[in-house]
Amino acid sequence: MKTIIEPFRIKSVEPIRMTTRAEREAKLKAADYNLFALKSEDVIIDLLTDSGTGAMSAEQWAAVMRGDESYAGSPSYYRFRDSVQELMPFEHIIPTHQGRAAEAILVSIFGGAGKHVPSNTHFDTTRGNIEASGAEAYDLVIEEGKDPASLYPFKGNMDLGKLKAFLEEKGDSVPMVMITITNNAGGGQPVSLENIRGVAALAHEYGKPFIIDGCRFSENAWFIKQREEGQQDRSIKDIVRDCFSVADGMTMSAKKDAFGNIGGWIAFNNDSLAEQARVRLIQTEGFPTYGGLAGRDLEALAQGLHEIIDEDYLRYRIRTNEYIIEKLDALGIPVVKPAGGHAVFVDAKSWLPHIDPLKYPAHTVACKLYEIGGIRSCEIGSVMFGRQTDGSEKPAAMELVRLAFPRRTYTQSHADYVVEAFEQLAAEKDQLKGFKIIREPKLMRHFTCSFAPL
Ligand code: F0G
Repeated sequence: MKTIIEPFRIKSVEPIRMTTRAEREAKLKAADYNLFALKSEDVIIDLLTDSGTGAMSAEQWAAVMRGDESYAGSPSYYRFRDSVQELMPFEHIIPTHQGRAAEAILVSIFGGAGKHVPSNTHFDTTRGNIEASGAEAYDLVIEEGKDPASLYPFKGNMDLGKLKAFLEEKGDSVPMVMITITNNAGGGQPVSLENIRGVAALAHEYGKPFIIDGCRFSENAWFIKQREEGQQDRSIKDIVRDCFSVADGMTMSAKKDAFGNIGGWIAFNNDSLAEQARVRLIQTEGFPTYGGLAGRDLEALAQGLHEIIDEDYLRYRIRTNEYIIEKLDALGIPVVKPAGGHAVFVDAKSWLPHIDPLKYPAHTVACKLYEIGGIRSCEIGSVMFGRQTDGSEKPAAMELVRLAFPRRTYTQSHADYVVEAFEQLAAEKDQLKGFKIIREPKLMRHFTCSFAPL
């Protein structure tokens, strides 16, 4: 059969509250045109993030009942640890309440003034944690990764030449080398196994620990299986193990590829690093066998990790993005290609060239998409990255609208509805004029700033 179906049937449903365009226009105005300020019940299809928004399976809910809430030594922790170690063969697995908590612990060990930390592209919270410690974060993704139109199969790869030069130049001030799989901030693009091995080899040649931000490890492994020579006949589990077996540690947001609504972890091989992490964990998160989570959350993750490497699921997951991208492409709407793992990214800079980047074309598209269809997406452009530390404003490298798909939550008719909303938007886009920001906080303005339409 050629049709790729959702490989699940629905046992429990959440109603969607339908709204009219007039209602949505009023809601958005009342929210000062900031999509984060909307109530989620006023959203029809919520593609703001794939983080913590997925549907848990019947087996996960069953596991929740097994959760043991002992403060120390809960069997739920050991089931969680064993599930992680089946995929990521690290000695020490330390739970945290979400990914950024794991990053904060990592940076408490490796960060600090005068340090320089390279990655393919640091996610905002990773960068935020590094910078807050006084260290500097560097993005060394390959050039193809910055070109929305490039069809290169592994646009998340790190530039090994740049990394070598970086390690030579910065020497002892580099405390670790990181890589993010998939490269979320760069369009959810994958990193090849060859590149992961290359980065690990370079890091080790220079005596640096190699740490993977593994949030979307399973989607990344699926792309390796599809696109990398010699990987086609291998299981997702074996590919995942290969990726992590060359690393010295990892951070994880289990709200992505562990099917959790909450959770994360940090892992190390080295005993002394693990001890430092556990001490910090006790100060900030909780005892090392629960790390800020309930026992039932650990159980849900233990089960989720078995389900996330299922190939029928991954095929459907990635196909959803390809399906939407093909349809948007046919409408002449520029999108980041090839399809990434967790989201579709629309290139608003080329689609609305009449709107200056500092009048926020991607934010303009995101707002209109909400008014037309009640669809909530996320701007990744000059609203998010434009304000500089010296107070000036500078256009971001790209003006993207991210449509991030919660896992196992929406169906193909939801996807068709999104495409139809874009078709309507295509008819209205030439009249759009952009926005100005009328109030903003000092940091991370995109979450809370207020806009006025131009
Ligand atoms: N690393 C990556 C690559 C991420 O995408 C995220 C979160 C984190 C770390 C932080 O994890 O949210 O559990 O603290 N990304 C979400 C997103 C928020 O919408 O892309 P967290």
